[in-house]
Amino acid sequence: MDKKFKRTLITSALPYANGPVHIGHLAGVYVPADIYARWLRLKGEDVLFIGGSDEHGVPITLLAKKEGVNPQDIVDRYHGIIKKSFEEFGISFDIYSRTTSKTHHQVASDFFKTLYDKGEFIEQESDQLYDETAKQFLADRYVTGTCPHCGNKGAYGDQCEKCGKDLSALELIDPVSTISNSKPVLRKTKHWYLPLDRHQQWLEKWILNDHKEWKSNVYGQCKSWFDMGLKPRAVSRDLDWGISLPLPDTEGKVLYVWFDAPIGYISNTKELLPNDWEKWWKDPETRLIHFIGKDNIVFHCIVFPAMLKAEGSFILPDNVPANEFLNLEGDKISTSRNWAVWLNEYLVDFPGKQDTLRYVLTANAPETKDNDFTWKDFQTRHNSELVAIYGNFVNRSVVLTNKYYNGVVPERGELTDYDKQTLAEFSDTRKEMDNYLDNFRFRDALKEVMNLARIGNKYLAETEPWKLAKTDPERVKTIMNISIQICANLSIAFEPFLPFSTEKLRKQLNIGKFNWSEIGSIDLIKAGHQIGTPELLFEKIEDDAIQAQLDRLQRIKKENEQKNWKPNEVKSTIAFDDFGKLDLRVGTVLDCQKVPKADKLLQFKIDDGMGGRTIVSGIAKWYKPEDLIGKQVCFIANLAPRMLKGIESQGMILSTVNSDGSLCIVTPQKQTRPGCTIE
Ligand code: MF3
Ligand code: ZN
Repeated sequence: MDKKFKRTLITSALPYANGPVHIGHLAGVYVPADIYARWLRLKGEDVLFIGGSDEHGVPITLLAKKEGVNPQDIVDRYHGIIKKSFEEFGISFDIYSRTTSKTHHQVASDFFKTLYDKGEFIEQESDQLYDETAKQFLADRYVTGTCPHCGNKGAYGDQCEKCGKDLSALELIDPVSTISNSKPVLRKTKHWYLPLDRHQQWLEKWILNDHKEWKSNVYGQCKSWFDMGLKPRAVSRDLDWGISLPLPDTEGKVLYVWFDAPIGYISNTKELLPNDWEKWWKDPETRLIHFIGKDNIVFHCIVFPAMLKAEGSFILPDNVPANEFLNLEGDKISTSRNWAVWLNEYLVDFPGKQDTLRYVLTANAPETKDNDFTWKDFQTRHNSELVAIYGNFVNRSVVLTNKYYNGVVPERGELTDYDKQTLAEFSDTRKEMDNYLDNFRFRDALKEVMNLARIGNKYLAETEPWKLAKTDPERVKTIMNISIQICANLSIAFEPFLPFSTEKLRKQLNIGKFNWSEIGSIDLIKAGHQIGTPELLFEKIEDDAIQAQLDRLQRIKKENEQKNWKPNEVKSTIAFDDFGKLDLRVGTVLDCQKVPKADKLLQFKIDDGMGGRTIVSGIAKWYKPEDLIGKQVCFIANLAPRMLKGIESQGMILSTVNSDGSLCIVTPQKQTRPGCTIE
């Protein structure tokens, strides 16, 4: 760590308590923050790692309304689930609290009051939609209406799901309140704004000049905010869930959730250390690091620092190592679409396999770009890296030491050139890891440790002590001593990443925790030390466990398609004459065959009462050709002919398109003479 700092305060974004946490949260924020905290602790540094639930905001009130319960019930439920998941995955918070705590309400309210008294806000009146039946102002999410961009009738006040554009409720055409279904009216309301424009100058210098070392995704996003020019941001809302504004005559107004939530980092520190919290937030010798996802960058790099600066007595973050997003099997993770791997469910399906998920999510972390989590990759990394390299090496070392020496670590004799070469291969491991971890490059750091395991595995595979046991027992002693020393090294180097299996490993080696600086030593375990009994660190993950996960996702995809299905909008009105131009007729299928090299197409020979015609139709996925022969179909008889895969198609067979996208041929309800028209 930089000499100018004495201690490190690590925060990780407070997750919204409106659902469980999923692999995206873990990969983007909590695993890297935890690795960082554990690494610094192993180095003997002074560290505090702060977490908690973000329990205010509109989505929580919407969910409560949907379930017919209070917002407090919602956050109680999910705070409990989230906290438990973090414990189970070994996220080593010093405190995990919540923004509905008494301490937080006091700290956030005081913070606002301080800024208010210092004149750091501007007050502004604006028009907002008001529900006269429910007697309340409407947050954007509480309004639906017609999208001004694409005409979608069911657009939400903050976003149109059809065209994806961000909206404000005031832009919606024919807005409707989702609370009472009434038509809202415009009403004036007063809010307090943090004038970020006043802060732009120092913020810009602070980030763009003084923190060029920040990750390029973070730096770049900040720069583009500066280029657009910072604008005042409202820090209050008209809502009945949140922290009441500490000002007279502001009933029905609360702090905006993004104003109170980051203050939660401070509140939780204070809750943990009521008498000692200030040195963590106000002493310039404290280094503050925010772990977040990319959607939180502006709040942690611009808004919160502006708040801290405006308050006047707080330090600013030294770094904000934000990650990009993790996708799941090619699609964006989404709570509302249930497209996620939920941590609480993962542990039901893979009990005891916390470290596997920590490993895969770190090895494939979205550090510089969005990444994809796939179950196949999960299985491969587990089986061919954790099981086949790390687990295998440790197991062989412990088994052989027990077999040859009853578990007593033998003396090491003279080293061969090969031994020396092996040791040299990992002499730089710690330095390299430190360098990577200092720069928040967790994937690369993990690769280094895995490489150490690989070196050990290769060492045993190439020295083959089991072949020398009889012929050269002295040599075997040296090999086993070195192997056990490498195992001890792994117990240190893997600790920040895989805390559960390193604990198992320490138990097998019958050792305690070493200091980080001892990585690289081959005298960690003295000859004569009694180790424990072997136990597999990792067991193979079989195909059926992976298939079960893929089947679950397939099911969810189907459910979503059905849930989201809406009839297509009716096309614009046509005149009767336009309909008259279409010549629709009945025909009988004389013959039907697959079109070679076109898996979607069937070629029909139709008796059309006029000598027959050929029609090619993209229906092969839903019918066997032989089942259609003799059936009646409806077709367009006057469609201009088209060439499809070298066949001239003289018309089009009509079919229905079901909500799952499947096609079904339309057929007359009674036998009809081929060539008859449809009118
Ligand atoms: N709840 C926010 C989210 O999930 C993160 C809040 S971070 C904090 O995106 F700083 F505001 F706490
Ligand atoms: Zn739209």
